[in-house]
Amino acid sequence: MKELFSLKGKIAIVTGGNGGIGKGIAHGFAAVGGNIVIAARNKAKTHETAREIKSQYGVQVLGVQVDVRHEDQIQAMVAQATDRFGQIDILVNNAGINIRNMPQDYRLDEWDEILDTNLRSAFLCSKAVYPAMKEAGGGKIISIGSMTSIFGGAKLAPYGTSKGGIVQLTRSLAVAWAPDNIQVNAILPGWINTDLTRQARKELPGLNERVLARTPVGRWGEPKDLAGAAIFLASSTSNFVTGVALPVDGGFSVMI
Ligand SMILES: NC(=O)c1ccc[n+]([C@@H]2O[C@H](COP(=O)([O-])OP(=O)(O)OC[C@H]3O[C@@H](n4cnc5c(N)ncnc54)[C@H](OP(=O)(O)O)[C@@H]3O)[C@@H](O)[C@H]2O)c1
Repeated sequence: MKELFSLKGKIAIVTGGNGGIGKGIAHGFAAVGGNIVIAARNKAKTHETAREIKSQYGVQVLGVQVDVRHEDQIQAMVAQATDRFGQIDILVNNAGINIRNMPQDYRLDEWDEILDTNLRSAFLCSKAVYPAMKEAGGGKIISIGSMTSIFGGAKLAPYGTSKGGIVQLTRSLAVAWAPDNIQVNAILPGWINTDLTRQARKELPGLNERVLARTPVGRWGEPKDLAGAAIFLASSTSNFVTGVALPVDGGFSVMI
């Protein structure tokens, strides 16, 4: 049974793996033997995370600087990963940002920045790893959605659009690449304690209390709470699971 969840010998790219949810997932993968490519913009944070994971679990870790808004940088990221490891077994499309505003007040460049970072990147990264996964006879792609994949919010038009899009992208890729033995799934986190939500807590007075009241388990999630679902979707135990959007939300999405 232990082997079912093992990632021993596997290579996983985690975009935005140097902080928050991505880092929680990278730690989880490394804990079950996976080798990790941490891909993000901030070199110092990436270097520190790579050092931490290497020393804690003894797996191989490669840090790559990438801005996922740019296709050429994504292609360079995949080339660096394949040069170093010769294979890519798992991709986690996790990099994401938010800018809060009323729909009528967004500038077009803000809309584009959110959509390019959260959604277009997931398409481009998935497309970039596809040839390696197909050649290897299979792979796993996991994209990070949100409760805004399901629910709307007044100041969330572009963010919610990007996260709704993640679910539909997941379904289409799952269908397209099922014959290649590539499983494509999404994880929809509830409210998780990260830099992103620490910023939201500053911008939205009372948010902390609302999250605690609205989440049945009565607490914020921590990045490590995402690791179990990600390991399940990255490992062979989920080989017959594809196209799903799995909430990891402390019950947020089932409470009226
Ligand atoms: N926290 C929550 O409650 C929550 C809930 C639902 C969904 N999510 C989603 O979960 C994902 C991670 O969020 P988080 O809460 O962990 O936020 P976070 O702590 O702010 O981390 C975001 C990560 O994305 C990277 N990133 C941002 N823009 C990038 C770009 N252009 N290119 C490459 N990397 C980029 C950042 O690294 P660099 O700055 O170094 O590039 C960082 O590692 C996002 O997709 C977010 O929408 C979060």
